[in-house]
Amino acid sequence: MKYKDALPKLTLFPLTAGVNDQGHLTIGGSDTVQLAIIYGTPLYIFDEATIRAKCSEYLRELGQRYSDTLAIYACKAFTSQALIRLLHEEGFGLDVVSGGEMHVAKSAGFPLDKVYFHGNNKGEHELRRALESGVGRIVVDNFHELALLGRLASELGKSQDVLLRLSPGVDPHTHSHVATGILDSKFGFPLATGQAEEALTKAMSTPNLQLIGLHFHLGSSLFEAEPYAEAIALVLQFAAQMKQRHRFELRELNIGGGFASQYLLDSPAPPVSRYADAIVSALTEQIRQLKLEQPRLVIEPGRSIVAKAGTALYRVGGSKDIPGVRRYVFVDGGMGDNIRPALYDSKYEAVLANKMGKLETDVVTIAGKFCESGDILVKDVRLPKTEAGDVLAMPTSGAYSIPMSSNYNASLRPAVVMVKEGSARLIRRRETYDDLTGHDSP
Ligand code: LLP
Repeated sequence: MKYKDALPKLTLFPLTAGVNDQGHLTIGGSDTVQLAIIYGTPLYIFDEATIRAKCSEYLRELGQRYSDTLAIYACKAFTSQALIRLLHEEGFGLDVVSGGEMHVAKSAGFPLDKVYFHGNNKGEHELRRALESGVGRIVVDNFHELALLGRLASELGKSQDVLLRLSPGVDPHTHSHVATGILDSKFGFPLATGQAEEALTKAMSTPNLQLIGLHFHLGSSLFEAEPYAEAIALVLQFAAQMKQRHRFELRELNIGGGFASQYLLDSPAPPVSRYADAIVSALTEQIRQLKLEQPRLVIEPGRSIVAKAGTALYRVGGSKDIPGVRRYVFVDGGMGDNIRPALYDSKYEAVLANKMGKLETDVVTIAGKFCESGDILVKDVRLPKTEAGDVLAMPTSGAYSIPMSSNYNASLRPAVVMVKEGSARLIRRRETYDDLTGHDSP
């Protein structure tokens, strides 16, 4: 791609990203400036080829090191019927965390026996639905849920495969809001306190539940692979003890998600092969030492499947120059469609999709249109001279933007398109003002 050297930021965009003769950013063979005109802004664009390539990379890198591997997509990162169908075609299972996500999966025709149901406070109605619809695995998070699920399964006369979510007490070295596998976390049965063993014996003696495995999820955006190895060792040692003490057989080890994505040029994420090496070496080494049967390995990537594939487009409106301080450039979206910078101080890059060939001479701050000073999408980004009407493109916007979006300020959630080989299709329409009032009673 001729612009990749001149414009390194292009490498953060989807694999198919390029620049056409008009100097416009293209994705999946479509001119993004045209897409902004056709579908309006803010607009989220997903590149099918990038999603499929990432899925294949996971299956290849893990499968060649450990053949009994199942990859499931954590659809909280972005849920849509079109995406869920695509993941099914790629041979992925699904991680859902609510009755709502289960409904989307079901409505997309996803085979529910490949669905894992997570969550620290699943409601009785959600568990009942999961049992009735034949969800493959329920990942039990606490004692209340264990008792409730046991009762419901017996009432419905179902035998349900379950895993226990453990909190192994491993620090993932990530943002505190997304660290989950530590002792002081709302998720899972702690290994350190003896509660994991108590849960295991209770689950094994619950007649309608089949305890087939153990799960942990350390956190999100782990730029290191070592915490996985550390947690695998702890959990397999626990499994070996439980085998000795209670004849527990570990058939599945689910190590969660958390694999990082590259948002900025100077913070590359480890390749899947690096995680796969650390995970499979720790797993095979512990199995050998502890003389365990080989369990199935399950991984649950969310962010890393869709982050790079997704690009957000905004239209530039006004700006505000504070001489000697900074220049704010305003766009027509912001914290309503992407809360991540405000919530986690997440950093993004940006380009002007209609001026890809132009020199980046200015440093500006991209502010959204919401009534909050914290509504800043990107601080101090280098761009060509901006004008009203420019199209701003933010790469790596595919994960946790739309699913965490809101109607703050009665704004409309954006449209989403999927692009592939020069064609674009709407996979979610933009909300309308009627959607805003549709739930109200006058
Ligand atoms: N499995 C479980 C049990 C999870 O809780 C999560 C994410 C995943 C898998 C997928 O993790 P991933 O591969 O996407 O890191 N809203 C935050 C991220 C929250 C992640 C919640 N759990 C953000 O925008 O950074």
